[in-house]
Amino acid sequence: MDSKLTRRKFLEKSAIAAGGVVLLGANAPAPASGQSAARKGANDRIGVGLIGCGGMGNGHLGALTRLKDSGYAVDIVAVCDVYKPRLDAAAARTGGKPYSDFHDLIAATDVDLVGIATPDHWHAPMTIAAADAGKDVYCEKPMTYWGDMSMTRKVVEAIARNKRVMQVGTQGMSDTIWEQTAERIKAGAVGQLVHAQASDMRNGNLGVYNPKSDDGQAKPGTNLDWDMWLGPAKKRPWEPGRFFAFRSFWDYSGGIGTDFFPHILTPLVRTMGLGVPKRVVASGGLYSWKDGRECPDIYNLVIEYADGPSLLLVASLANNNGIPMLIRGHEATVHFEGPGAVIRPQDAVTRDREEEKIERKHGASLEEHYKDLMECARSRDRKPRSNEELGYAVMAALSMGIMSYREGKAAEFDEKSGKITMR
Ligand SMILES: NC(=O)c1ccc[n+]([C@@H]2O[C@H](COP(=O)([O-])OP(=O)(O)OC[C@H]3O[C@@H](n4cnc5c(N)ncnc54)[C@H](O)[C@@H]3O)[C@@H](O)[C@H]2O)c1
Repeated sequence: MDSKLTRRKFLEKSAIAAGGVVLLGANAPAPASGQSAARKGANDRIGVGLIGCGGMGNGHLGALTRLKDSGYAVDIVAVCDVYKPRLDAAAARTGGKPYSDFHDLIAATDVDLVGIATPDHWHAPMTIAAADAGKDVYCEKPMTYWGDMSMTRKVVEAIARNKRVMQVGTQGMSDTIWEQTAERIKAGAVGQLVHAQASDMRNGNLGVYNPKSDDGQAKPGTNLDWDMWLGPAKKRPWEPGRFFAFRSFWDYSGGIGTDFFPHILTPLVRTMGLGVPKRVVASGGLYSWKDGRECPDIYNLVIEYADGPSLLLVASLANNNGIPMLIRGHEATVHFEGPGAVIRPQDAVTRDREEEKIERKHGASLEEHYKDLMECARSRDRKPRSNEELGYAVMAALSMGIMSYREGKAAEFDEKSGKITMR
C-alpha cells in the first residue's frame, strides 16, 4: 500500500467498517446548526452548566470566570454536584443555580453548554444525555470510561445525531504547535511516519491516588448522594477512598493509563493523523504504592497502527524521570522543545537537508480550549480541536491498553466488527 496516498482513505474505510464510527480527523466538516438549541450569534452569551465541582471542576469555573471578566460572552448559569459542600461553594463562587441532580441541570433552558468534570464512569452517560437534550458539551478527559467501548461509540453517535459540538478536556490541544507540526508532516517533512514516544512520569503519594484520602466531612445520606456518585458503576457501600481517590480503582478509572495518557496521546494522534490502532500491548505493575489501590504505578503502553507507526508511552507514579516526546519519520525526527518544535533530518536517508524550526503561534490554556469550543458552538462550521472523533481514536488505544494490562494479552481491534479481541 502506498502509505501516504492511502493512509487517510484507509483510516476512513476501516473506521466505517469499525461498527459505523466515522473517524475523519480533527478537521472534519462540522455539524450544521442544530434544531433543538438555537444557533448562537457572535455576541450572544453562552450559558454554561457545570457538572462536577471538585478539583478540575473548580479549574473550569476559574477559566470561565476569567473569560467572562475579560469581556467574553459567557455566563456560568448552573452548577451541579452530589457532594453538598462542593455544590454550595461552587454556587457561592459563581452565582450559578445549584442542582443536585444533573438531569435537571441538563434540562434547564438557560444552559447552552454542559461542562462535565465528574469521574470517568459518568462521562459517556452525561455526554449522551446532554447531546440528546440539544446541548453542546465540554467533557473532561478521558472521553469515556475505559471498560466499555460501546459507550464511546454511542458518544460519537449522540453528538452526530443531535448535530452538537463537543470538546474533550485535553486542554493541551489548544497549543497551536500540534496543528502547525501536522501541516509539515502532511507536506512530507519527516517522510514516512515510523515511531513516536512520550511519557508522563511523576513521583509521590498524590492525594488523588491515595486510597486513604478523606476530608472527614463527607456523609452519605446527609451531605452526599453516594448512589448517584456510583451511578453506572457497581453498587458498593460508602468508602471515602473510592470517592476521593477514584483514579486508583478500576471501576471508575484506568489509573495513570487513562488519567495521564489522554494528554500526550491526543496530540500525537492528531499531529500524526492516526486513527484506531490495530494492536496494543501494555505492561507494568504496582511496585511502590501498596496501600490498597488497584491500578499500577508503572505503566508501559505500545500502540501499533496498521502498516505503522508504533507508539511507545510510559507513565509512572514512582519515578519522575521521563523520556522526551518525539515523532520519528524515516527521513526526520520531530523534537518538541524551545518555542515549539524542531524537525531534525536523518542523515542516513536525507543528505544536505537543514533542520527546520517551528514556532508556536500560541500555547495551551483552559481558556483557549473553552474558547475553541464556544467559537465552534457559534459558527457551527468546524469541529473543536479535541473533538469526539479524535477522542474515539484515543479511547480505543487507551481501552485496549488497560484490557491488555489486566488480561496479560495483546488487544487487537477488529475492523469488520469494531470489537476488541484479546490474543
Ligand atoms: N484536564 C485536566 O488537566 C484534568 C485535571 C484533573 C482532572 N481531570 C478530569 O476531571 C475529572 C474529575 O476529576 P477531579 O480530580 O476533579 O475529581 P473530583 O473527585 O475532585 O471531582 C469530581 C466531582 O464530581 C462529582 N460527581 C460525581 N458524580 C456526580 C454526579 N452523578 N452528579 C454530579 N456530580 C457528581 C463529585 O462529587 C466530585 O465533587 C476526571 O475525569 C479527571 O480525569 C482533568
